[in-house]
Amino acid sequence: MSGSELLFCLLPSILALILFLILIKRKQNRLNLPPGSMGFPFLGETIGYLKPYSATSIGEFMEKHISRYGKIYKSNLFGEPTIVSADAGLNRFILQNEGRLFECSYPRSIGGILGKWSMLVLVGDMHRDMRIISLNFLSHARLRTHLLREVENHTLLVLSTWKDGSTFSAQDEAKKFTFNLMAKHIMSMDPGKPETEQLKKEYVTFMKGVVSAPLNLPGTAYRKALRSRSTILKFIEQKMDDRIQRMREGNEDLEEDDLLGWVLKHSNLSTEQILDLILSLLFAGHETSSVAISLAIYFLPCCPTAIQQLREEHIEIARAKKEAGETELNWEDYKKMEFTQCVISETLRLGNVVRFLHRKALKDVRYKGYDIPCGWKVLPVIAAVHLDPLLFDHPQHFNPWRWQNNNSRGSSSSSYSNNMTSSNNFMPFGGGPRLCAGSELAKLEMAVFIHHLVLNYHWDLADMDQAFAFPFVDFPKGLPIRVHHLSTHLAYNRRN
Ligand code: HEM
Repeated sequence: MSGSELLFCLLPSILALILFLILIKRKQNRLNLPPGSMGFPFLGETIGYLKPYSATSIGEFMEKHISRYGKIYKSNLFGEPTIVSADAGLNRFILQNEGRLFECSYPRSIGGILGKWSMLVLVGDMHRDMRIISLNFLSHARLRTHLLREVENHTLLVLSTWKDGSTFSAQDEAKKFTFNLMAKHIMSMDPGKPETEQLKKEYVTFMKGVVSAPLNLPGTAYRKALRSRSTILKFIEQKMDDRIQRMREGNEDLEEDDLLGWVLKHSNLSTEQILDLILSLLFAGHETSSVAISLAIYFLPCCPTAIQQLREEHIEIARAKKEAGETELNWEDYKKMEFTQCVISETLRLGNVVRFLHRKALKDVRYKGYDIPCGWKVLPVIAAVHLDPLLFDHPQHFNPWRWQNNNSRGSSSSSYSNNMTSSNNFMPFGGGPRLCAGSELAKLEMAVFIHHLVLNYHWDLADMDQAFAFPFVDFPKGLPIRVHHLSTHLAYNRRN
């Protein structure tokens, strides 16, 4: 076929494409899009958006964009036209309208690595079914009857290895704690056993890939993570087969009370779905909580009065337990940890473990006079709200007292309506129908860890380190700390 014949054949398609682009452009011109810049072709502004910055700030990119365009702006991120929102009201509106106006929409690479049945990427009925299973397994009743005891045992297991005067990575210790807890709760795997250690090792490689650029090329972290993913899945599948075999043999009393046992008995999920559910819960429950605990360890030494007040609260709890002859924390003890809850909220507000969420518009949406076109990506940036000086006084200051008596703004003269507005603006666990399924477990983990930490140890930072947002939060040096045993007669550790 000659060149002119080829051109003649392609002409209708080319014309159709040009017409389509003109129509889109016309429609966009009619729309009142928020101000902003679409950056370079293809790349957009993604590189600037993802440039690492201090986790207690919103970063230079966000600062500059907000000051130039306001809290709602357009951009081109992750290869798609995007509306970025640092506006508390819009963020709430987006999350509360999940499934109606907006829908969860993580980059395809996340689905590639966590699996297509992972809760993070599922939408609609399948998401609802998986969510019911997760909520059932992380219910309030289970927290009281099973998880509190497990959380305390795993805390003590980690803390009991901390030698007086030693220096180590607090982040690694926090990861050890949350990984062991999740592995036990999900698949009844015991800490320290060779299979648990093997899975942990594989999981580290997997995690490096989750947070790396999604380049499936030889030698990249992403490629290695995909390999680790299949090793981990094979491992979980083996556990599943063993469990099914035992169930068939009628060994009821050998059945463990864990997530794996529960889904096998009470759900009709396929093997592939169970594998992705387990992998994604291991991921959701392990990474986030360990970062949150590391952040608390990092913030507290800069605020000795908070450590002092925490210690008083926990000494009081420990004293009452000693008098009652009890050795294990119970739910009533947990409920007494009121100032601790303020420290937890402040850690989550200032550290922002999850900084922004990925959504897309399902319809054309109008908000505060701006149009958000159907199909556009929408990023509610929860960190920007938590660090907004109009909503939280001196937002860069670690001030747990701002949460006392619901006074979340941090000022001494906040009115009732201000208080309500500020607690509405606090969304470390997201919101709406996709609110974090493990939020109560995460707070329990942090509280119990802090309880034994402040009762048993004094600690300081052994080397300068800082929390960075990559945008996932991480301490480049692993947060090295030096610990000293406290000699208080109330410090207790059942394992010693
Ligand atoms: C401080 C610790 C944690 C933080 C800051 C956190 C934050 C979040 C956020 C912001 C979301 C919403 C994601 C979205 O809407 O796109 C989420 C979802 C989720 N989180 Fe957490 N999380 C934490 C701990 C945990 C723990 C311990 C678990 C337990 C396994 C867990 C399980 C989940 C699950 C299953 C979802 C998906 C919920 C759904 O799609 O319906 N998280 N988390």
